[in-house]
Amino acid sequence: MYVRRIVPTAWSQLLLRAGNQKGHEWVCRSCSAKFPYPARFSTSRRSLEKPYYVTTPIFYVNAAPHVGHLYTMVLSDILKRWQVLRGKQAILCTGTDEHGMKIQRAAAQAQTPPKEFCDLTAETFKSLAKRAGLSNDHFVRTTDPDHREAVQYFWQMLKEREYIYESKHEGWYCVSDETYYPESTIEKRLDPFTGRTFMASQETGKEVEWTSERNYHFRLSAFKDRLLDLYKSNPEFVVPAARMSDVVRWVSEGLEDLSVSRPVERLTWGIPVPDDESQTIYVWLDALVNYITKAGYPWAPGKESALGWPADVQVVGKDIVRFHCIYWPAFLLALDLEPPKQILTHAHWTLNHQKMAKSTGNVVNPFFAIDRFGVDAMRYYLALEGGIANDSDYGNDFIVERYKKGLQGGLGNLVSRITRPKIWSVQEAVQVAHSGRASDRDQSTMIQIEMLQTLGEKANAKMEELNPGAALHTIMNAVYETNKYLQYQQPWAVAKLLANDQKDTRLRAKIDCTVYHCAEAIRIVGILLQPYMPSKASQLLDMLGVDESRRTFADAKLGADDTYGDAKAPVGRDAWDGLFPPLPVEK
Ligand code: ME8
Ligand code: MG
Repeated sequence: MYVRRIVPTAWSQLLLRAGNQKGHEWVCRSCSAKFPYPARFSTSRRSLEKPYYVTTPIFYVNAAPHVGHLYTMVLSDILKRWQVLRGKQAILCTGTDEHGMKIQRAAAQAQTPPKEFCDLTAETFKSLAKRAGLSNDHFVRTTDPDHREAVQYFWQMLKEREYIYESKHEGWYCVSDETYYPESTIEKRLDPFTGRTFMASQETGKEVEWTSERNYHFRLSAFKDRLLDLYKSNPEFVVPAARMSDVVRWVSEGLEDLSVSRPVERLTWGIPVPDDESQTIYVWLDALVNYITKAGYPWAPGKESALGWPADVQVVGKDIVRFHCIYWPAFLLALDLEPPKQILTHAHWTLNHQKMAKSTGNVVNPFFAIDRFGVDAMRYYLALEGGIANDSDYGNDFIVERYKKGLQGGLGNLVSRITRPKIWSVQEAVQVAHSGRASDRDQSTMIQIEMLQTLGEKANAKMEELNPGAALHTIMNAVYETNKYLQYQQPWAVAKLLANDQKDTRLRAKIDCTVYHCAEAIRIVGILLQPYMPSKASQLLDMLGVDESRRTFADAKLGADDTYGDAKAPVGRDAWDGLFPPLPVEK
């Protein structure tokens, strides 16, 4: 009988590799080549600091990605890039979930061997990450050999600690959701197209099948108190608060042990249970371990956090809260491993007020959307309008409208009004402001100053609440306020007065003062928008002549940069049209 024994052999090999090589290379074979420790973080204190670690769920490869997946990717990427902006090392992991009944069936239906089938769709998720400008450091696939080793090791440890036992299991299994549902949550449904009746989950409406089999169980019920303690001492473990309350309620009501394997007769497409070739590991146990696979699990002593674990934030949709906020920390607690610091659970995108879902085909193709509107416009729209607590309805009209209002009419217009006129110079205004020769500031300028002094911290506070959308609203509000300030100050009208009386230095100073406080708004907003719209923000900062080394969070303060103003990119009509060009007309 062939038994896959990775423990302790693989473990000692890993230790050996850890001892023989420097740093992180031994841990993540597939990703080590591009491990993101930039040279500028090479001081000894820096290298000891745990990187900020962000994850997305790993997506099922049963069908192509849609805008919902893009949303999770973008939110996670913004959270990561924000940390980089703040000068931290940060890591982002995304990937694909390739095992289980759902994929086994999808591959069978496509008459393709499962691995071949997975290779194809995994590629589309990978290209989506690329098209979306994701700065992911890892792309994990559950069919990767290092992941398989991590899962089998994890299993072995649970078994050794006697958290896994064998018994008969009967219940309603839902292949689409890859989970058992309790009898009380099942109902009979009728398919209106075929007239067929079937049993389904009340929650998701997906068909369930009665299964009766011997398999392994995880002692989830033993973790009720430890989980409740975890939630109590980390009241923001799950964000937003309403979902934290749901989780506390579910756990308080009691937990049943969890079936964590399936007989191979039913499920072959998965990771075999170590020491028992008649069983395959449950896809959710397999999938959740991905988050530590790329963080280097199993860890050599003292290396636990070198690659980021515990995750600082794990971003998931509200559909998979139970798995991430209950099962996952329970698995980790069972092995005395640290749970993630926070789990951001977001709401769904709907289309015609129905959940966008692969299984129903009620979806928007994210590649088409990016082709049509541009990647930065899509990232902007998803971040601005995407729901955390409540669902959002997707619509091309909304994208066009938000783009016109915020980017063309708001930001683009402000940039154009400040950088294009020949009657003043941004560079001169900056120099005057920093020379101490500034004019008297009227009340509206004082308000503008106050806004710019607090903008970065206000946006950061929203980010710390894990709300990139709210931070974006704060940033965009500064754009709208600055446009109003500019309208109120009318520097073009002052310039006409100046034309009549060149000797009036107060007029010149007044123009410079207005231009400077608008340019500062553009500079600060441009810096803060980099995590949202990496290429548009950089184009904008080029147009304003902001040096590349002066684009960090620390620079996003009023008066922090006295060197800009000499455009590094053309600022004429074509250029500004190129920054936020008109969108293709609706067909
Ligand atoms: O659940 N709106 O994979 P999955 C917003 N493999 N986000 C959406 C969405 C929508 N309409 N639809 C999907 C799985 N998502 C498991 C995860 S993790 C260890 C295993 C996003 O392909 C959202 O992040 O069904 C959701 O949680 C995820 O895709 C589910 O993707
Ligand atoms: Mg799903």
